[in-house]
Amino acid sequence: MDPLAFVPHVAIFPFPAQGHVNSMLKLAQLLSLSNFHVTFLVTVDTHDRLLNHTDVLSRFGSEFKLQALPHGISMDNMTTRIGVSGLFDSLNTFAKPFLREFLVNSTVTCVIADGILSMAADVAEEINLPIIYFRTISGCSFWSYFCIPELIQAGELPLKENAMDLTLPQVKGMEDFLRGRDLPSFCRASDLTSPDFRLVLTETRQTSRARGLILNTFEDLEGPILSQIRTVCPNVYTIGAVHAHLKARLATKSTSSNSLWKEDESCISWLDTQPPKSVIYVSFGSIAGVTREELLEFWYGLLNSDQKFLWVMRPDLIVGQERKNEIPVELEQGTKARGYMANWVPQEKVLAHKAIGGFLTHSGWNSTLESIVEGVPMICWPRFADQQVNSRFVGEVWKMGLDIKDTCDRDIIASSVRDLMEKRIGEFSQRTENMASLAKRAVNEGGSSYINLDRLIQDIRSMIP
Ligand code: UDX
Repeated sequence: MDPLAFVPHVAIFPFPAQGHVNSMLKLAQLLSLSNFHVTFLVTVDTHDRLLNHTDVLSRFGSEFKLQALPHGISMDNMTTRIGVSGLFDSLNTFAKPFLREFLVNSTVTCVIADGILSMAADVAEEINLPIIYFRTISGCSFWSYFCIPELIQAGELPLKENAMDLTLPQVKGMEDFLRGRDLPSFCRASDLTSPDFRLVLTETRQTSRARGLILNTFEDLEGPILSQIRTVCPNVYTIGAVHAHLKARLATKSTSSNSLWKEDESCISWLDTQPPKSVIYVSFGSIAGVTREELLEFWYGLLNSDQKFLWVMRPDLIVGQERKNEIPVELEQGTKARGYMANWVPQEKVLAHKAIGGFLTHSGWNSTLESIVEGVPMICWPRFADQQVNSRFVGEVWKMGLDIKDTCDRDIIASSVRDLMEKRIGEFSQRTENMASLAKRAVNEGGSSYINLDRLIQDIRSMIP
């Protein structure tokens, strides 16, 4: 008998964006530690970026394959140029037929697909392969997406200008604190029939067709919301935070990066020269953009706060007509004295650095989890999709920072940064340190994420025909 017949082979298929690829590649590595064969299916552009900027091949053994799927779109500005639904159309046209051919001609035991790629479930069902979904967003934002049809039925959507601060009884488990302005950004659209809006809705509502749902979160963080999710998707595997989980299983302090851009390591040398907890780290993730006006408000706010800052200024960060990101003359001196700018940084390392005292973030889920694991309090300025919900939880439920959504006035930025870094540092530190230790407990032996990953591994093994 071929001994390989007893080794599970998993095909992992993420949506081609940094936040999705990052966590799903961590899962790939976790599974290959259990001697699984893994094929990681990514679009050509992502494939080439991973080869250029990471050591992805050398950190796995020969049981790992990075497989490029044909796809016409490059990651640079992809969502701004063609919109989310355009990107899905393109994946359907180019990648889906290839995925089908690949799965038909391989020995895959189970597909783990991004939960927003129902095309993978279409193919898997057609050829009778088990499929499990991985959603890269938080449990709380997943649940708010799921409840949107109830909000529409109750007449709460489209959102009314005067109802932005009213709470919404239709989102069970969040009735007391989730306001209109905290709903996923696409709920602000006046046209509920727009393709982008419908797409997110249908992709979320079809989750239960998969055999299980993997979430990058942990029970101590989102227990009550996970109970709600389990009423519609009973088999949920919470295995997060996956980056911390991988570190725990490898017994290392840091893991290899999954960056799709070149990291500027020089910021670490700069941080080494700064006192403990003296620097606020500023980053808006891999996709979100800001206008030139917003950028200037942040710039003045940071300088007026009198705190040191490390700021990720992606080359494509500025949107709109005035795309200049050079330093305004009047801000030059202050920026040189207190700031450090980089195009892209090794974020996990930055957040783990002792000089970092706070994180001004767009509340992307990976960034939020990375901050939670390191016990770094946040100022949240969410931009789109799930980020509005995450920031409400950080500010109101977990009380690990300030949610300043919908404003970036320079005075508010300056006072929020001072509040976080100076006045309320004790209050925030206590909560963030407490949650950081719960996060670490979850991924170590006996912890909830550790147990759930073992259960996932057993379940996939049992799928071997
Ligand atoms: C988006 C969503 O907002 C997010 O919630 C969803 O789960 C995935 O899609 P993104 O906006 O890129 O992702 O934010 P985030 O989830 O925070 O992911 C960004 C990733 O890029 C993080 O893992 C972060 O460590 C990494 N990063 C960011 C870097 O490595 N270097 C940087 O300079 C900035």
